[in-house]
Amino acid sequence: MNSAVPVLTVDGPSGSGKGTISALVAQRLGWHLLDSGALYRLVAFGAGRHQIDLADETALAEYAAGLDVSFELVPGATEVRILLEGEPVGAAIRTEACGNSASRVAALGRVREALLQRQRDFRQPPGLVADGRDMGTVVFPDAEVKIFLTASVEERARRRYKQLIEKGISANLADLMKEIAERDARDTQRAVSPLKPAADAVVLDTSEMNINEVVDKVLALCRERFDNLPQ
Ligand code: DC
Repeated sequence: MNSAVPVLTVDGPSGSGKGTISALVAQRLGWHLLDSGALYRLVAFGAGRHQIDLADETALAEYAAGLDVSFELVPGATEVRILLEGEPVGAAIRTEACGNSASRVAALGRVREALLQRQRDFRQPPGLVADGRDMGTVVFPDAEVKIFLTASVEERARRRYKQLIEKGISANLADLMKEIAERDARDTQRAVSPLKPAADAVVLDTSEMNINEVVDKVLALCRERFDNLPQ
């Protein structure tokens, strides 16, 4: 583990704003970004493509270990371009169906283990913002700053709805609320790496905060901890 490189972990449930906040903070700091949820989504998506059963832990772990993926930075954009087996996957891994399959795949210990080192390899100078569920607890337990974002189920469903509609993906608010509650239950109750704040995490309830307020708060916490950050 390259523990000389600073890490900020941002964990929390679906729709807590982690993805947006992490991307903006990484951009402001000029740090690398790990979107660990994308890895679980890619395993679920690739499993569908290769007809691997979502209950076949051995086959899924093997597929995850050899996952052929690259994350390309698009200059000036907060989103990265993701290539699976050489092909851009884009919106295909962002659907609710893929998120739900990812949540099932992510409950399998051997799949998580297969992805562990790949996630740690993102820790490169000058620093890393790691977005996920177990970044502060399992993947980067030695991270200097750990944030845990939460928001009510209703608020998270509203945000997800808006996000999906903006991306041109159709959505239904009541269904989203139900799915988010179910996914929360699966992510927090699983035996391996359950979703929970690290003992040393700062918990931020973002229900009543806008994106800029959360970004400013996270940057302020980073400035307390790290020297020489860009303004
Ligand atoms: O953040 P996301 O919605 O893209 O994540 C998709 C699923 O992957 C989510 O239901 C839980 C799982 N996940 C995980 O178990 N651990 C992570 N570090 C990131 C995501």
